[in-house]
Order: sequence, then C-alpha cells, then structure tokens
Amino acid sequence: MDLPFSESYKIKMVENIHRSSRQEREVWIKEASYNLFNLKSSQVYIDLLTDSGTGAMSDKQWSEMMLGDESYAGASSYYKMKKAIQEITGFEYFLPTHQGRAAENVLFSALIKEGDIIPGNTHFDTTKGHIEFRRAHAIDCTIDEAFNTTLDYPFKGNIDIDKLEKVLKSHPKEKIPLIVVTVTCNSSGGQPVSMANMKAVREVADKCGIRVFFDSARFAENAYFIKLKEKGFTDKSIREIVREMFSYADGMTMSSKKDAIVNMGGFIGLRDKELFEKASTFNILFEGFISYGGMSGRDMNALAQGLYEGTDFNYLETRINQVAYLGQKLKDNGIPVQYPFGGHAIYVDAKRFLPHFPVEEYVAQTLAVELYLEGGIRGVEIGTLLADRDPDTGKNRFPELELVRLTIPRRVYTNNHMDYIAAALINVYERRSDIKRGFKIKKEAPILRHFTVELERVKQR
Ligand code: F0G
Repeated sequence: MDLPFSESYKIKMVENIHRSSRQEREVWIKEASYNLFNLKSSQVYIDLLTDSGTGAMSDKQWSEMMLGDESYAGASSYYKMKKAIQEITGFEYFLPTHQGRAAENVLFSALIKEGDIIPGNTHFDTTKGHIEFRRAHAIDCTIDEAFNTTLDYPFKGNIDIDKLEKVLKSHPKEKIPLIVVTVTCNSSGGQPVSMANMKAVREVADKCGIRVFFDSARFAENAYFIKLKEKGFTDKSIREIVREMFSYADGMTMSSKKDAIVNMGGFIGLRDKELFEKASTFNILFEGFISYGGMSGRDMNALAQGLYEGTDFNYLETRINQVAYLGQKLKDNGIPVQYPFGGHAIYVDAKRFLPHFPVEEYVAQTLAVELYLEGGIRGVEIGTLLADRDPDTGKNRFPELELVRLTIPRRVYTNNHMDYIAAALINVYERRSDIKRGFKIKKEAPILRHFTVELERVKQR
C-alpha cells in the first residue's frame, strides 16, 4: 500500500475550544449586529476569519522569543531579521513595521501623492484604503479568468498585461509611482501569480520607467504554486523560486502575520537606497526607530525564524494540502467554490450558492452568518461590504464576485476540523432555498466599513 500524505509536524501544545448551541449563536450574532468581527472569540468554535497572525509558532520560534534583544537601537534581533530577509528575498535594505498595512503606510507616504494611479492585481483592502486615503486611485488589472470561479486556470492572480499597458499609456509616467503585484492575490481567491507574469510586468514597467512592488504577504505559498504548476520550476527549490520572484520587483511590503507565521509583524524590503532613506523618516514617525519599527526584539527573532520555516517545502505542502482537502470536500458535494483552490483559503461563491438572492441584501454576508449559525464557524465576507462605497459617488460598489472566505490558520486545525466545516456548509447548502432574508446597513464607517458595520435583517419577502 502507498503510504498516505501526512503532516510534517506534530503538536506540542493545545488550546481548548468549545462548541455552542444554535440558540446561543442566534443571540450572539444579533448582539453583534450580524457582523462576525463583533463576535467574541469564545463565541466561535472554528475561526476562519483570517490566516493573519492566527498561526501556531513552532518550538524553534518560541525559543527565539527568549533570545530577543530589546535594545532600542542596533539590537541583534534586528540583524537576525535583516539577514533572514536578505537571504530569502534578496532585498538589501529593509524597514521593520508592526504589520503589513503599516508597511503600506510608510512606503506610500514616500511614494504616492493625490491624483496618482496605482495599477495592480486586485489590491487588498488595506492597500486600496491607503491609496484612496491619499486621494489616489487603485486600478484593477487582474485577468478576467480570475472572476470566473468555475474556470480551471492555474494562475488566476495574474495581471492582464494588455490592461496594464493601457493604464500605463493613458496616464503620464509621473502619475504612476508604482505597480503593485499581490502574491498570492488575496482578493481573487488566494490565487497565485506566475513567474512568467511577474517577468512580463517587470518588462512593461521597465519600458516606462515605473517601479514594481510586490505585496508579499503570501509569497511563499505563491512560490509553492509556481513549483507545482509552472513549467520549468518543478526541480527548483522554494527558496530559489522566491529569489527569482523578487528579482522582478524593486521592493516589497510584507505582512509577516501570514507566510512568516508570526502573530504580529511586517516589513518593507527595498533595493533603492534613496527611497530607503526617504521611507526611513516616515518609519520613525509612524512606527518607531528603523531598527525595530513597531516590533519588539523577540518578535523580530520569531519572524526571522518564521521566514525560514515558511519557505520550507514540507511545511508548504502540508499547508496547501490541508486547504485543498477542505476545498475538494466542498467541491465534491456540489458547493460552488473558487477553483483551483487558493493557497490560504477556500472561497465560496455566494452568488452561485444562493442564486435567488438579491446582491443588494449582501448575499455573501448572509451566507457567512448562516454558516456561523449552523456550526459556530466564523468565515468572512469578501463582497459588497468589503468593497466599500465609491468615494466619488457614495454608491455601493458591487464587485463581480461575492465570496465567503474560509481562511485556514497555519498549523492550527486538523483535518477533522476541515470535515466539520465541510459538513456544516453542506447542511446550509441543502437548505439554501429557505434562506430568504438578507441584511440592510444600520451604521457604517466611511472607509474599511466591513470591520465595524452594523446590520439588521430585512423584512421577510
Ligand atoms: N496585503 C495582503 C495581500 C493582505 O492579505 C493583508 C492582510 C495585508 C496586505 C495587510 O496586512 O493585516 O498585516 O496589516 N490580510 C489579512 C486578511 C488581514 O485577513 O487577509 P496586515
């Protein structure tokens, strides 16, 4: 008999979690104004809100915590992080920040001005938020294939080079301070970008003299997909692939809470000394001195160790296989999910799950609430609520895809949990025609509203 696949780690410490009754959940979700972000974690059985900062650190990372150097300037932890970043990404300069959006804030303060245009593959919401906050515009140049959840296309995170060229041609170069390539592309389903596409973006950018930055939260998962799916990379190691990926970028922003498997942390990687010096001033202003930037020494140590672990093939294989295990179960039971499966999450296509349902009543949010009521599972809406209103017209933006993201934390849940999640969603699917009441907004913030929005049920139709 062939030996089956099994995890590349064993469990050393556990945290108890508790199941609740449907009646309890009915009360809690109402009290939370039907916003899953407002739930207490104790009211959640399996938490798939995010894979950000929710992973389990290894024994080696915990030992690194004890070795942290908490000196204000020049700490050994800073140098450990610098060495890991240089070895893994190849960027000579770096600035630590407390998380990914802080890296965006610092970098964009140095690069973006009002009226600028920033093309990319569906910018993540904080990236877009930081662009729009500066009264600049994020232009989505993702390939159309990404928005067809049934199409089996290996690199749905790719940038459409024609769309990109059109944007570059229709605006003066001075108005385009950078192109952002998000690897993997979170907003289109944790979908990878191919090496060929990164190279093509680089070539187009070079013709116009425009910078390319990678939003790199899940760069290692992207590299794993390249190894698996792209011709010519099967025999390359993950680290070799990562080095080549970053060779096509001028810099990177990183949320280390994902592929560096820490609970908090981020950084900016750069090649350009002048830009590094300009960004350093903003780093000191917003984050802290350039040798800690919002992180404690112990956190920088754990991050450095996490970068090595996160780019280990066996770890990545375990991780991506678990996500695919859940995806396959759902797909086999007829549940519409973004396919091929992404790296960090399974995205349920809410419009195809509830085809009779009006998008104006927040279809993906409705499905996310139903899943919580069914099994105490907390997913997250990636749809109209997340898309915010158009800053110019004040109208709701209805994105092409209305998704519920089931995000899998790293090294946290077992495949029994995946079975439980699948069963709960299958139950909801079986009673989908009874789901008739959506939501309307009671209260919302002008930007990044999905975190705090308050909803109420609309009347029965
Ligand atoms: N870029 C991408 C692609 C992200 O997915 C995130 C965060 C960020 C930037 C911002 O990083 O949270 O450290 O400030 N994504 C989380 C998520 C929040 O749930 O997908 P951060």
